[in-house]
Amino acid sequence: MDHHVKDMGLVKKGRQRIEWAETEMPVLQRIRARFGAERPLKDVRIAACLHVTTETAGLMRTLAAAGAQVRLCASNPLSTQDDVAAALVEEQISVFAIKGEDRDTYYRHIHQALDLKPHFTMDDGADLVSTIHAERTDLLADIVAGTEETTTGVIRLRAMARDGALRYPIIAINDAKTKHLFDNRYGTGQSTIDGLLRATNLLLAGKTFVVCGYGSCGRGLALRARGMGAQVVVTEVSPLHALEAVMEGYAVMPMAEAAKFGDLFITVTGNRSVLRREHFEVMKDGAVLANSGHFNVEIDIPALRDMTASSREVREFVQEYRLADGRRLYLLAEGRLLNLAAAEGHPAAVMDMSFANQALSLEYLARQGKELTPNVYSVPVDIDQAVARLKLEAMDVHVDELTAEQRKYLQSWEEGT
Ligand SMILES: NC(=O)c1ccc[n+]([C@@H]2O[C@H](COP(=O)([O-])OP(=O)(O)OC[C@H]3O[C@@H](n4cnc5c(N)ncnc54)[C@H](O)[C@@H]3O)[C@@H](O)[C@H]2O)c1
Repeated sequence: MDHHVKDMGLVKKGRQRIEWAETEMPVLQRIRARFGAERPLKDVRIAACLHVTTETAGLMRTLAAAGAQVRLCASNPLSTQDDVAAALVEEQISVFAIKGEDRDTYYRHIHQALDLKPHFTMDDGADLVSTIHAERTDLLADIVAGTEETTTGVIRLRAMARDGALRYPIIAINDAKTKHLFDNRYGTGQSTIDGLLRATNLLLAGKTFVVCGYGSCGRGLALRARGMGAQVVVTEVSPLHALEAVMEGYAVMPMAEAAKFGDLFITVTGNRSVLRREHFEVMKDGAVLANSGHFNVEIDIPALRDMTASSREVREFVQEYRLADGRRLYLLAEGRLLNLAAAEGHPAAVMDMSFANQALSLEYLARQGKELTPNVYSVPVDIDQAVARLKLEAMDVHVDELTAEQRKYLQSWEEGT
């Protein structure tokens, strides 16, 4: 079986860590048990470009149990957990991913995953879709549909659909409520703090912590930073999101202001050059810069390098940039997703829901994908609700049911005061 991973000697460690993560993924386990019996993805070929983590391993094993043949490559050069990659290969799942791989290797791995001639693609950032549309259009004949995990990928795909460039249908997993309200918020919130602490071991209490972007991820990050005792400042471009941040009690201001007194800056906007030269110019000596948005473009690193007199690694994942005027700025994890580069990504309990949406959406696409025209679709509402129901069941949380009288009341328009 074709594969390219760092070290097959890491199998045991990977297997143990996957086992640990799966104890927190009861929804996916239930789906796997059903898939094992029903085999809804029998003889289906899937190319997946996802962060190669213990949770993704849980998803890959679920797809394999459903009868699918899967090839997995990384969706970020720094997010691969090499022990997990090895453990999956041991289970006969083809993986092409090595933590720290260079750009050429990253794209070679994407092509190797695509060499499977997939019926379905699973993306986290739309790299498979982009590569297929730009360089591998020969594969389109076999492809039925795909899924996309993250906000940035969905934005790219919607732009392609708008321009009439998208050649096959995609389900936007991120749109599911059981995805972005939990994974982006509680997952990114906690794991970004985790990455920050592992990389720096800084005390957050009393620090001015600037959250750039108050969307699904920014809300979680601001919440957790405040919980650690930091004074949280939010920067935004959306009036609505800025207003929400104000009403949550955060200080809201333009980056030009925040740049002057922030101790820590974390971008989660999905946009580019959110921190740039004009901001670096006024930052305090010792300011720490990091990103948890999908691509490493949110901090203008070329501009930072351009202003730098000397640079050195002071800890793993911490690069010091000494500017010409003597101030030092610290960039974490090369500006790549901090939570995945310096920590382990989202905790399994939230990925349980995101990947349950992935697994059920693939089952849906295997059944009905051929009927869809090329466009970006939301996760069917019944899948979203099923995931919420299963998660509650697994947590042994019970909720009320509507009475017949209440159901009737909610559906009627005649009853008034
Ligand atoms: N690290 C992870 O594990 C992880 C997980 C989920 C999503 N993501 C990524 O994080 C990014 C954000 O995702 P999201 O779901 O929060 O998106 P979102 O669209 O909900 O929020 C982004 C916010 O950033 C704001 N914004 C845009 N440009 C800005 C600017 N120049 N300055 C300040 N604010 C700006 C937007 O108005 C919006 O409120 C995306 O790239 C997404 O793919 C990462």
